[in-house]
Amino acid sequence: MKLRILHLEDNNDDVELVRLALKRQKIDCDILAVANGDDYLSAIDNSKFDVILSDSGLPGYDGREALAVARNRCPDTPFIVLSGNAEPFDPTDKAETEGVTARLPKSDLKSLAGTIQTAVGQHLIAAMPKVAGVSSVAATSPTTQAPTYLESMQHLITVVQKLSLARNLEAIQTIVRRAARELTGADGATFVLRDGNLCHYVDEDAIGPLWKGHRFPLTACISGWAMLNRKAVAIEDIYLDPRIPHDAYRPTFVKSLVMVPIRTSEPIGAIGTYWANKRRATPEELSVLQALADSTSVAMEAADLFANLERRVAERTRQLHHRSAELERLNHELEAFSYSVAHDLRSPLISIDGFSQLLLENVSAPFNRSRQDQLERIAGAAKRMHGLIDDLLGLSRIVRAPMRRVPVDLSALSREIVAHIRDRELNRKVDVVIAEGVTAYGDAGLLRIALENLFANAWKFSANREITRIEFGTRTEADGRVVFYVKDNGAGFDPLRAKKLFTPFQRLHTQEDFKGTGIGLATVRRVMHRHGGEVWADAEVDRGAIFTFFIPPG
Ligand SMILES: Nc1ncnc2c1ncn2[C@@H]1O[C@H](COP(=O)(O)OP(=O)(O)O)[C@@H](O)[C@H]1O
Ligand SMILES: [Mg+2]
Repeated sequence: MKLRILHLEDNNDDVELVRLALKRQKIDCDILAVANGDDYLSAIDNSKFDVILSDSGLPGYDGREALAVARNRCPDTPFIVLSGNAEPFDPTDKAETEGVTARLPKSDLKSLAGTIQTAVGQHLIAAMPKVAGVSSVAATSPTTQAPTYLESMQHLITVVQKLSLARNLEAIQTIVRRAARELTGADGATFVLRDGNLCHYVDEDAIGPLWKGHRFPLTACISGWAMLNRKAVAIEDIYLDPRIPHDAYRPTFVKSLVMVPIRTSEPIGAIGTYWANKRRATPEELSVLQALADSTSVAMEAADLFANLERRVAERTRQLHHRSAELERLNHELEAFSYSVAHDLRSPLISIDGFSQLLLENVSAPFNRSRQDQLERIAGAAKRMHGLIDDLLGLSRIVRAPMRRVPVDLSALSREIVAHIRDRELNRKVDVVIAEGVTAYGDAGLLRIALENLFANAWKFSANREITRIEFGTRTEADGRVVFYVKDNGAGFDPLRAKKLFTPFQRLHTQEDFKGTGIGLATVRRVMHRHGGEVWADAEVDRGAIFTFFIPPG
């Protein structure tokens, strides 16, 4: 990063001295020197600067005026005052100090680089979104001032909370590289991951470029040392420490550092923090950074687990989708097949029916009575087969019919159905009780078919009762579900065989006792399944049956 510096100074020698000082201190920068108020103003208006250096006063242009202009036009740019030694300075005078990032005597230009780097670093911190009180403390204090231990601990708690919510490595990196700096007031931080025998500097946040994207052997860098030795390391002067690859550090601002391993038992990475000034890290700073590293390792493990889980869920979902699509396809095929079989059976049946009728009409009584009887049987069988085919086609239509779910008044529907059945068998004594105001959320057409079958069965299988009783209502189950039922006092059946009834063609009564095709209850079950519901039966031989169904409420 090349720093852009605006330097307000009317003395050419001073301009040159500052340039040389920065060059010697290896600050990569472009300096624009201006000697009067007008040039200063137009420079500020026309370009952006990373830092402003200002002489404390020029003839005809006051340093305070320069400061006011800067605070007004570019309030975020650090403003450093370079003052002549002889000039009086009153630290309590607000006009002299407010908005000034740092003040340096011209006699101390050797500290200029450090002052600029600190100022620019603080400027970056100030520009970051505030996570806790710490960053604003660092931003407003005039020199490098590390946050207090208490502040760090408070900040750490926020960071740990954020880490606990991070679901991937990238989010963790972003939190950690920023936190490492803010927790210690450092000038830079790196996030290093172990990659086999290499240290991978995956991410950084610093006042100047470090090694983002680079990989170094574990044995050739200090993050590797921290990982191999499973402990934190603090170095006050990196150029005095043989573990540091000095060449790699020379282009950077780093003078001191702290490196902590992520997960001490078996390190998976490290967090580095760096300072532009020589300083000895305090034990508190070390423990805060180690706490950050420990939380990071927990967060990384959690993110790993989460990613794993997500992958497995995605995989399962894909498999399920695949399977259900396959199942649906097979189902459709089967449906289409049974539909066409049923359909195709019809025309030969019509022929059988028609020709046996013709034969019947042409047979002359009486000597052909047995033949007539046979022909009548053929006609009867054909009629039954017609019924079967109709029911089968009805059953397959249930699966194919489109669904439109609305609130359906089951009480009204039941009354209508019962009235219809009653019309066909006026001579039976049937007591029907239908609960009022029963509704379900479903497809009106399909629910009608289901109820028609249930009432038809109740009616049919109670035919030999002197007085038939049929009841429709709702009941609340032990698990809280509200279910519907149709109950009769008819022939009933063996409850152990109740489950079988819902399969096509399964009947518990003979054709002699009760006629039927055995498809009605299979149809009812399909209707319920299409609604995501279910149906079940209970009965006792000769004491009636009760069919209960559940439809999920909308
Ligand atoms: N209300 C009922 N009472 C006694 N048995 C019943 C009742 N409803 C159904 N069943 C038994 O379940 C079988 C299957 O019913 P269903 O599929 O409707 O066929 P179908 O009515 O054509 O015989 C019936 O044959 C009968 O044995
Ligand atoms: Mg039936």
